[in-house]
Amino acid sequence: MNKGKPLSLFLLEEPNYKQANKIKNYFVKKFEVSKVDLEINPTKFILTNGKYRKLKRKANKKKDFAINYRWFYNVRLNIKKGVFVPQPDTEGIIDLILQHYQNSNQNAIKGFEVGTGTGAIPIALTKNNDKIIIRTVEKKLKPFKLSQVNAIENDVYEKITFCKSDFLKSKDWGNYDFIVSNPPYIDKRDKTIEKSAKKSQPAIALYAKHSGIEFYQKIFNMAEKSLKVGGMIFLEIGYNQKQILEKIIPATFKNYKFYKNYNKNFRFLVLEK
Ligand SMILES: C[S@@+](CC[C@H](N)C(=O)[O-])C[C@H]1O[C@@H](n2cnc3c(N)ncnc32)[C@H](O)[C@@H]1O
Repeated sequence: MNKGKPLSLFLLEEPNYKQANKIKNYFVKKFEVSKVDLEINPTKFILTNGKYRKLKRKANKKKDFAINYRWFYNVRLNIKKGVFVPQPDTEGIIDLILQHYQNSNQNAIKGFEVGTGTGAIPIALTKNNDKIIIRTVEKKLKPFKLSQVNAIENDVYEKITFCKSDFLKSKDWGNYDFIVSNPPYIDKRDKTIEKSAKKSQPAIALYAKHSGIEFYQKIFNMAEKSLKVGGMIFLEIGYNQKQILEKIIPATFKNYKFYKNYNKNFRFLVLEK
């Protein structure tokens, strides 16, 4: 009897990478499964040979396989050309924040985000912790608009204040319990950046001046005034930025710690004021 095997194995056996990707995208879209889940749990999706052949036939019939949404944490987000596509690594920052505030006895936890994109961070946070309200700032019109659609579709629009503004130029933001950001952090001279990221992600979401640390510097400055004492900063950082960031952390922060992602690279910095 043919009991079937994981979809990931069928895909590996495809001689052509593009064909495998096409089938994978079709599967994700049709069955509304998370692409990350498919990668993390490759043995979860079992198909018989017959079912796989049928899937392949249908995938090949479709003209347009581009998926126009992504799963991030437990949130479904519309994506669009010109708006940064949320990355699985960033889910680590959601875990850190949710863990930090899970037993909080505050009535409301006020957050501030730099660089909204699709709204991945504020939407995932407000959807998973009722007490969190958050203000988020985005420079570009497309993500500013799309993130609001995403917030409405996820029923958290009332909890998020969306601002269209240049964070690097603005001065006064108010007073917060925490600041979070996955800012642009790539040094323009960095040649190791993957071609695919360069092609598919908007440049404004990737590059930052001062060897990539411009936004971190500005966030530390902002925190002097706009972060409550005892408040927290949660940052995603480039895999090679631990050393340079250690040098610029202001003395105002009594504690700080770098955290690794699944691949054992330092990708997050958490600071306490
Ligand atoms: C790396 S993306 C992160 C998007 C989203 N937070 C996420 O994690 O998926 C950085 C975002 O910052 C925005 N951005 C770039 N420069 C900015 C600025 N000066 N002020 C506000 N937002 C900015 C970009 O347009 C982009 O949406």
